[in-house]
Amino acid sequence: MDLLQMTLVFSCLLIPVIGLDEEPEFVYPDRFNDPERDAFLYGTFPEGFIWSSATSSYQIEGAWNEDGKGESIWDRFSQEGGNVENNDTGDVACDSYHKYKEDVALMKAMGLKYYRFSISWPRVLPDGTLNNVNEAGIAYYNNLIDELRLNDITPMVTLYHWDLPQALQDVGGWANETIIDHYNDYAELCYQRFGSRVPFWITFNEPWIVTLLGHGVGYFAPGISEDGTTIYVVAHNIIKSHARAWHTYNDTYRQLQNGQVGITMNSDHVEPYDSTNQDHIDAADRCLQFHFGWWANPIFKNGDYPEVMKTSIASKSAAQGFTKSRLPEFTEEEKEYNRGTADFFGLNQYTTLYANNTPDDESNPPGYLKDRNVLTFVDEDWETAGSSWLKIVPWGIRNILKWIDSQYHVPIYVTENGVSTHDVYELDDVIRQKYYRAYINEVLKAIKLDGVDVRGYTAWSLLDNFEWASGYSERFGMHYVDFNDPERPRTAKESVNVYSKIIADNGFIKEVSTTPATQYTTASAPSINILSHITCICFCILSNVWTQ
Ligand SMILES: *[C@@H]1O[C@H](CO)[C@@H](O)[C@H](O)[C@H]1NC(C)=O
Ligand SMILES: *[C@@H]1O[C@H](CO)[C@@H](O)[C@H](O)[C@H]1NC(C)=O
Ligand SMILES: *[C@@H]1O[C@H](CO)[C@@H](O)[C@H](O)[C@H]1NC(C)=O
Repeated sequence: MDLLQMTLVFSCLLIPVIGLDEEPEFVYPDRFNDPERDAFLYGTFPEGFIWSSATSSYQIEGAWNEDGKGESIWDRFSQEGGNVENNDTGDVACDSYHKYKEDVALMKAMGLKYYRFSISWPRVLPDGTLNNVNEAGIAYYNNLIDELRLNDITPMVTLYHWDLPQALQDVGGWANETIIDHYNDYAELCYQRFGSRVPFWITFNEPWIVTLLGHGVGYFAPGISEDGTTIYVVAHNIIKSHARAWHTYNDTYRQLQNGQVGITMNSDHVEPYDSTNQDHIDAADRCLQFHFGWWANPIFKNGDYPEVMKTSIASKSAAQGFTKSRLPEFTEEEKEYNRGTADFFGLNQYTTLYANNTPDDESNPPGYLKDRNVLTFVDEDWETAGSSWLKIVPWGIRNILKWIDSQYHVPIYVTENGVSTHDVYELDDVIRQKYYRAYINEVLKAIKLDGVDVRGYTAWSLLDNFEWASGYSERFGMHYVDFNDPERPRTAKESVNVYSKIIADNGFIKEVSTTPATQYTTASAPSINILSHITCICFCILSNVWTQ
């Protein structure tokens, strides 16, 4: 592509989509050629809709060995070198252990009324068990919660966001069934010490990542690569731990504390590549069952794994010479115990994939991808964020919300959504401003046009922070953090203003207009926007030029 073509493509992409009343609307990342689906929807969210922002303990706190905190698997994994980009660690991270008041002030300035953070298990229980309760660690979270409440910000607390006490890993971690008791002890301690001020608990953040990246490919702590075998044991123990902690709350704490306990799962949206081809439709659905259904089917449906997982893993296990399925079984009693153990569905959503069928592969060694048997891929034309895996596809979040609603009929909270940039100093973070407006707009469509029960939205993240195996090379924050400065100063990026405005308006209100603004209500389809057609046609022509 020569410079002229590039200029044309860019100026074309930057043409604002102008409404019929010529009010500037929004520059949709117009790569998808479906202007009707992608038309911007003005309107507000239901009353009481929750606007939040999220972080997690290992990614922001630092103080990795202060005041009696125990070692976590992420301390071990990052410090041993060779596992994280540039050998970065979370030893100091954003230093939020010392700077939490400043963080709360940032939230207050944004108009945030909710904040999702996680408790570091080894900070409150250094060896993972009740043998030693670290009161200094408890005090830190009490102070944080009190500071939040003083500023009218409600805590949403994640119990497990990946920083397992190393002492528990040393006896097998999630692969050892005794973890269920240890996790329940930890959860109950948190209900006891913090529960009177915490109305939302999230038992696990992204169990799929813990399982696959931590125990399947070893890309995340604890760095185990036992794909196709240990992953299913780990998942089994996580589901049982979740169910147990939910029952503990339901039996003893709900009446006193009146909160809700849910679980947060992540998945890329998976779209059939050819939506008229039944094989593609089945492949996309199977992919989502292996991703969400793995956890959500036992918890929200019938207490057991999805049928498609049970049959596929059983038949491949047999072909591979295993005497029984690599997927463990729940007893009838356990199914009964699992069923209905979440008050809400937490969704972390970032990107989208296309799905197609692949030929069955029953060869050894066993593996999750062989069990799942789906070919996934992206459209290279989709805009890429600062993380190579993160293609910007706003309509994907609407489609996955519809899929979750159709499967489980539960209240949904978007507990993470956001976008990364590379490690550059950039306060006018245009990509993030566009991303938030576009994705949040698709959440609005899911509510207003599709009738999905979405109750909250959480922007990831409040701050640039330690992005796991990518270290500090990728920035997801609405606030820039200077990791070279010992003071770790925070500076608001422009996306702070964009998100604050959405919060203040509880959605998207059309600015001063001579004609009455069109507010879409339930079931009324958005009208097609003429100029977005033009933009699209312009883009189509240019993409032809591009490919020639
Ligand atoms: C990271 O640590 C590993 C293991 O100690 C070492 O081999 C490698 O050179 C280090 N990489 C950088 C970028 O420092
Ligand atoms: C499982 O954990 C317990 C402690 O909770 C430990 O005594 C036992 O040895 C562990 N089992 C294995 C196989 O590591
Ligand atoms: C949750 O607790 C309530 C009140 O004690 C009880 O009626 C209900 O059966 C419990 N739910 C489950 C699934 O155990």
